[in-house]
Amino acid sequence: MNFEGKVALVTGGASGIGRATARRFAELGASVVISDLDGQNGSAAAAELRARGARCIFVGCDVSDPRQVVHLLDLALSFFPRLDFAVNNAGIGGPWEPLQTYPHEGWDSVLAVNLTGVFYCMQQEIKRMIGNGGAIVNVASIAGKRGLPYQAAYTASKHAVIGLTRVSAQEVARHDIRVNAVCPAYTDTPLITPLIAGNSRRVEKMLERIPMRRFGQPSDIAEAIVWLCSDESSFVTGQAVNLDGGMTA
Ligand SMILES: NC(=O)c1ccc[n+]([C@@H]2O[C@H](COP(=O)([O-])OP(=O)(O)OC[C@H]3O[C@@H](n4cnc5c(N)ncnc54)[C@H](O)[C@@H]3O)[C@@H](O)[C@H]2O)c1
Repeated sequence: MNFEGKVALVTGGASGIGRATARRFAELGASVVISDLDGQNGSAAAAELRARGARCIFVGCDVSDPRQVVHLLDLALSFFPRLDFAVNNAGIGGPWEPLQTYPHEGWDSVLAVNLTGVFYCMQQEIKRMIGNGGAIVNVASIAGKRGLPYQAAYTASKHAVIGLTRVSAQEVARHDIRVNAVCPAYTDTPLITPLIAGNSRRVEKMLERIPMRRFGQPSDIAEAIVWLCSDESSFVTGQAVNLDGGMTA
């Protein structure tokens, strides 16, 4: 894969899967726009890639605010001439609660970021890709394929992201834009730290559900994302690819 001359946008690029994906795009020669709510880690991530010789900018953006998303895309395209790849990765976990007592604020905030944020980003990305072609990858989860108990909002948001992926893939195929999702199982990032920190029994139970007996690494997910953006996957669209060490098998 060679992404020289290509431009990639990664939301939630300050940390975890997004940061590893931004790094992989840069290694393959792409110019990279890292976006995140977290300005400190986002700027550091962009500086790291520039220090390695990549063309990279950081743009702060809360994906749940449609005006900020328009600003993000405007700024990205004022800096770089085009947008080839977009990875809608920003996401939050939300509360762990039984559905009947699931807090409404938690529900609203998870849906606002994980679902509506992806919707806002896709709208702006597709508008900018029409006429040029491109590839979009939404970061869903295995929680988009099966129910995770006590994670009603997260599970609903990720199922819905797969739905959005399938709808838009059909709508934009004629514009030479492909849209896919990835569905990682537990991946070693700060998102799962509150779940596993100091709880070896829980880690054991989580690993028991994964035939490969390990968590995913951000680089495992990044590699699949860049493949889905590349010409190597030119006939793949509308798919939600499980990256789960065999968990859903
Ligand atoms: N880690 C896992 O086990 C796992 C498994 C399946 C799917 N995912 C998904 O992968 C994606 C990335 O998560 P991660 O594990 O790398 O977690 P992470 O916490 O390391 O990274 C998420 C990033 O998103 C950013 N973010 C949060 N809210 C935002 C907002 N409103 N606007 C912009 N940026 C925002 C955070 O600041 C953070 O940098 C998420 O969509 C998550 O649901 C993670």
